[in-house]
Amino acid sequence: MSRNDTRSYFPLAVASAVMVMVLSGCSHLPGRPGPGPEVVQPSDVLKFNTLYHQNCSGCHGANGTGGAAVSLGSPVYQALVDDATLRRIITNGLPGTVMPAFAQSAGGTLTDRQIDALVSGMRAQWANPSALGGNTPPPRSSSTPGNAARGAGVYLTSCAMCHGPGGRGGEVAGSIVNGSFLALVTDQELRTMIIVGVPGTAMPDWHDHVPGPLSSQEISDVVAWLGAQRRKFPGQPYPSGPGASTGE
Ligand code: HEC
Ligand code: HEC
Repeated sequence: MSRNDTRSYFPLAVASAVMVMVLSGCSHLPGRPGPGPEVVQPSDVLKFNTLYHQNCSGCHGANGTGGAAVSLGSPVYQALVDDATLRRIITNGLPGTVMPAFAQSAGGTLTDRQIDALVSGMRAQWANPSALGGNTPPPRSSSTPGNAARGAGVYLTSCAMCHGPGGRGGEVAGSIVNGSFLALVTDQELRTMIIVGVPGTAMPDWHDHVPGPLSSQEISDVVAWLGAQRRKFPGQPYPSGPGASTGE
């Protein structure tokens, strides 16, 4: 060690230089090169997995399933929605819901190229037409209004065995008429969930129902029945106001 002083002196100099850089924050060092092509800016990320993980998985689930919001990863969902609709929803969000607007043009953080990468990445990873066994799901949205009284009948035939009497929860599945739940979902989201099901749970997609696949009209009807149970004041634990007429 003592033979050559530079041996012990040199690493120390390097170490203290590193310390100075760490303490002062590298970006403040004069002469630091600006971001070169090797530095990936957030707007340059075009990898689907990264984009999805950073922006969507918190609500839609790690791999497009198991989240609180609709299972984008289901092959049924991928068959249900066209590219233009996906792009429009990701760009502008769904106003009045917690689904955010992601496009920079709408106040979000993603470029149009990143939104395209999300759309094509979803298709590449999750679309799987053969998983539908040749069946075509009912349309994502329907202009024919639902009928709540008929929907009560659909509920009894196809849903009550799991969601219990009146939708208030049963042995297999929880309540779907809970005021907080209904306050947080739109009728469109209910329709989408009923068509897509909830992968990884007993909740079937539109096709696997008893006594048979649900028709577009039956779905509209059961959504109208669910919608009719929305309380006007969902925060009120002991209903007594004008929204308390559902008899839940
Ligand atoms: C903060 C939670 C949240 C985040 C983050 C989020 N979403 Fe959503 N998303 C929702 C909710 C809630 C809905 C349903 C809203 C409704 O209609 O009630 C939704 C709906 C959607 C729909 C429409 C579903 C249908 O009915 O067809 C698409 C598509 C979608 N989200 C894609 C995405 C993508 C892609 C990302 C990431 C770039 C993302 N979402 C991030 C909460 C979120
Ligand atoms: C075989 C059992 C079964 C049947 C039949 C069934 N569900 Fe479900 N459903 C579930 C399960 C399990 C879940 C997952 C959430 C839970 O555990 O409560 C679920 C979830 C849901 C959700 C989402 C709830 C949430 O908290 O996100 C809705 C809405 C729903 N079902 C509506 C229906 C409707 C409407 C029908 C009839 C057309 C129906 N379900 C039939 C078992 C079933």
